[in-house]
Amino acid sequence: MVTLLRETSLGISYSLNIYRIFLISPTANKEGGCPFVLKAKDDIEDMMTQLSDGHPITHDVKINMFNNYLLETKPKKNQEYLSNPQLASAMKEGTKIVHAAAENNIFTKRFLSGSISTDEYGRYINSLYFIYKYGIMREDLLAQHKENPIIKLAYFPFELTRESSLIKDLEYYYGKDRIAELTDFKNATPAVKAYVKGLKDAAERNPALLIAHSYSRYLGDLSGGQILAKRLKKHVLKRDVINANWDSHRGLEFYHFEHILNHNEFKNLYRQRLDESPVTQYVKDLIVAEAIYSFELNIALFDEIQTLSDSNKLHTTLDLDDVESVDSPIKPKNGLCSNGDWIVGFATGFATFALGLSLYRRISERF
Ligand code: HEM
Repeated sequence: MVTLLRETSLGISYSLNIYRIFLISPTANKEGGCPFVLKAKDDIEDMMTQLSDGHPITHDVKINMFNNYLLETKPKKNQEYLSNPQLASAMKEGTKIVHAAAENNIFTKRFLSGSISTDEYGRYINSLYFIYKYGIMREDLLAQHKENPIIKLAYFPFELTRESSLIKDLEYYYGKDRIAELTDFKNATPAVKAYVKGLKDAAERNPALLIAHSYSRYLGDLSGGQILAKRLKKHVLKRDVINANWDSHRGLEFYHFEHILNHNEFKNLYRQRLDESPVTQYVKDLIVAEAIYSFELNIALFDEIQTLSDSNKLHTTLDLDDVESVDSPIKPKNGLCSNGDWIVGFATGFATFALGLSLYRRISERF
């Protein structure tokens, strides 16, 4: 339904050039805005059949094909490339509300508080594996369209490729023996299949739309994703700064971009490339709408994990203690200290000595 509203609102308001207010604004209807916000699909179809012949939306438009219809009939006047497209800024602005929804999703909130299990996190990266492999990574679709003038500008396979990181993480959580089963698309969950279908549909409608999916995933992984990685390391993998495995990326490879030295610089470059993309106003609007859709698909992934978790239907991951002890052969055991422990021990000893010395001086000054 959200998709339907998104497409319908986008189509109708496109001719009025005010689509952004309609896309997902909860206040749009209250303010006498979008007439579709509270309508069921059947109601919208009824309304569509009542439009006059002269209306830009004709009777025989199939609701779910609305973007296709627009691509064929877009008005000539908006065909010029924008001189200052600001595509990244438009996507950031356009996805603000849905970004907040993603942050406030039950599963993401639990993730942020560090209370998810490895079974849940394992499901998450298993889902992402399919999204990156078939959708936006090696990725079959982005690579196929890498010569598209918009994709080309922000195509960074060397820096961003996640497929092998995801395989490493899956091996970490489930063991090598289960990789074939976990990465078989036949075993993908409904939300994953819907996401991959969304990516394929976008590529068919207009390959430039893939940039919206690329933006939401990669900039998300380099932004909020990095916060989530820290929570994961500390609360789920239970690593401590004083242990030898603190600097290990095992189990966290997905969030580790080894070819990006400075995340902020890279994100700025990525945004700058998007801001210079050769787009018309029409394509820009479609891309922003697609970015919103991409967030919705991600939220659906989170919801699915929560539902599977609530009904105990998640695959079981390996015992983390066993995995971590393999990961960290020099982890302190039976009184043997790691490098971190030596530093803490030395610092504590030195502080105690300094305190003792200062007390001794004060006492001796009195006498
Ligand atoms: C717990 C969940 C999340 C948190 C805490 C979070 C947090 C953040 C933060 C702090 C930023 C700003 C970083 C900066 O300015 O450099 C950001 C940016 C971003 N996030 Fe999220 N985020 C979350 C979920 C998501 C999800 C689910 C997606 C989409 C898949 C996403 C996509 C993005 C994108 C695309 C940006 C870049 C915005 C821009 O600068 O254009 N985030 N996030």
